[in-house]
Amino acid sequence: VKTPGAVYFIFGATGDLARRKLFPAIYSLYREGKLGEDFAVIGVARRPRSGEEFRDDVYRSIQEFCRYSVEDDAEWSRFAEHFSYKSLDINNIDGYRELLQQTEEVEARFGIPGNRLFYLALAPELFGNVSFNLQKGGMLDSSGWHRLVIEKPFGYDLISAQKLNEELNQVFKEEEIYRIDHYLGKEMVQNIEVIRFANAFFEPLWNNKHISNIQITLSETVGVEERGGYYDNAGALRDMGQNHMLQLLTMIAMEPPSRLLAEDIRDEKVKVLRSLRPYASAQEVKENVVRGQYAEGESGGKTLPGYRQEDKVDPNSNTETYFAAKVYVDNFRWAGVPFYIRTGKRLPVKTTEVVVEFKQMPTNVYLGQKHKLEPNLLVIRVNPMEGIYIKINAKKPGTESQISPLAMEFCQSCQVGINSPEAYERLIHDAANGDSTYFTRWDEVATAWAFVDRIASAWAQESGDISTYAAGSWGPEEADQLLAQDGFHWWPVN
Ligand code: BG6
Repeated sequence: VKTPGAVYFIFGATGDLARRKLFPAIYSLYREGKLGEDFAVIGVARRPRSGEEFRDDVYRSIQEFCRYSVEDDAEWSRFAEHFSYKSLDINNIDGYRELLQQTEEVEARFGIPGNRLFYLALAPELFGNVSFNLQKGGMLDSSGWHRLVIEKPFGYDLISAQKLNEELNQVFKEEEIYRIDHYLGKEMVQNIEVIRFANAFFEPLWNNKHISNIQITLSETVGVEERGGYYDNAGALRDMGQNHMLQLLTMIAMEPPSRLLAEDIRDEKVKVLRSLRPYASAQEVKENVVRGQYAEGESGGKTLPGYRQEDKVDPNSNTETYFAAKVYVDNFRWAGVPFYIRTGKRLPVKTTEVVVEFKQMPTNVYLGQKHKLEPNLLVIRVNPMEGIYIKINAKKPGTESQISPLAMEFCQSCQVGINSPEAYERLIHDAANGDSTYFTRWDEVATAWAFVDRIASAWAQESGDISTYAAGSWGPEEADQLLAQDGFHWWPVN
């Protein structure tokens, strides 16, 4: 679907997100004919920059990070002429009036009917001010639609998120706010819904009668990189848990929506978040949630530094770079099924994977009651490999009744010619088309914070040092015990 003509304002246009993700996404959309010619991009940042310099930045970002590369000069000039730059002190209202003038010029030039999408790739402390000033500067007075796209972190806890939301609501309506969780833009995350709701052999088994447990792993090999300043205040629970992890869980656990409309889907997702069993005490948090911080370790023959040695990290920091939790969804479908979730930095592989482990058959007629068959698994691979893998039991060829597990595998990312769109491409496209399905609604954000706040406040009461794991290992051993005490283990990820 081609997007309606619009001006895209990228606030934070000289930053990392714009360079790595946003400009490449806009170029891919253009190459696929989804943007047409009635669009314009205005890069906004404090730094002075000429239009020419800005277009050079955009060019470099595309050549480095985009799945399409620029093929000829004429095509590049046609694309690049849609880009201009505005140096703006975001607290200075006069700057917004100049921005308005620049906007009206590009709208007239490209025949854009007043639709304006404001993408704030900025620190959240600035969201409120920018929104007020957009309004005061007349940027929201055009006849088309106005949409605000914002990046996480959406607050630090429930109270700060509420405050931020109230500020935004003074200018934008809920349906005009698009809160990005880039995991929801990933091809395989969106595929979870299709796998579940379009296949007769999954949905009937998708419940506590047939599933013994579900494991969600979001592992990263990178450390905190150059983001120590932000990360040391956030930690894995806020950085990955409150958003990506819980969003993935809702996609796995939600009831089928009655219609494929954004509000129906988000209604179902928020019901899952409301059904999460809250940890009732600090003791329950201790029993069900494990945290750890990476210490110096080895990987691929290289010594990796510990978290406390990283740039802009407090050398006595107790911030977690790993957490694992056992979570229950207290509803009819999932009563009694543990969801084990884990995420961490400096783990051995980069992967996002969901493992659905099915219950044992009532009896083992092959090996006798004492022996257990290997359980059936359904594995959804989100990233970097994209695909599905099913583990079943079958007769070992040439034997009378020996059983061996075999894998049926569909690897989407291995297929030649499939080059899945990047998350940001889908999300920018959806926002411009007014489809908020894969954005988080306020009640989802708030309910997720309420769940996470209990864990964070139990940790805040703990004294003593956080436990550590060697960089390059699979995290603290307690995370294995979390499953072992229920008779399960983490399935190895690929
Ligand atoms: C971001 C987190 O939201 O997601 C980062 O802030 C993390 O800490 C990143 O590295 C992981 O995203 P992806 O798409 O690489 O799995």
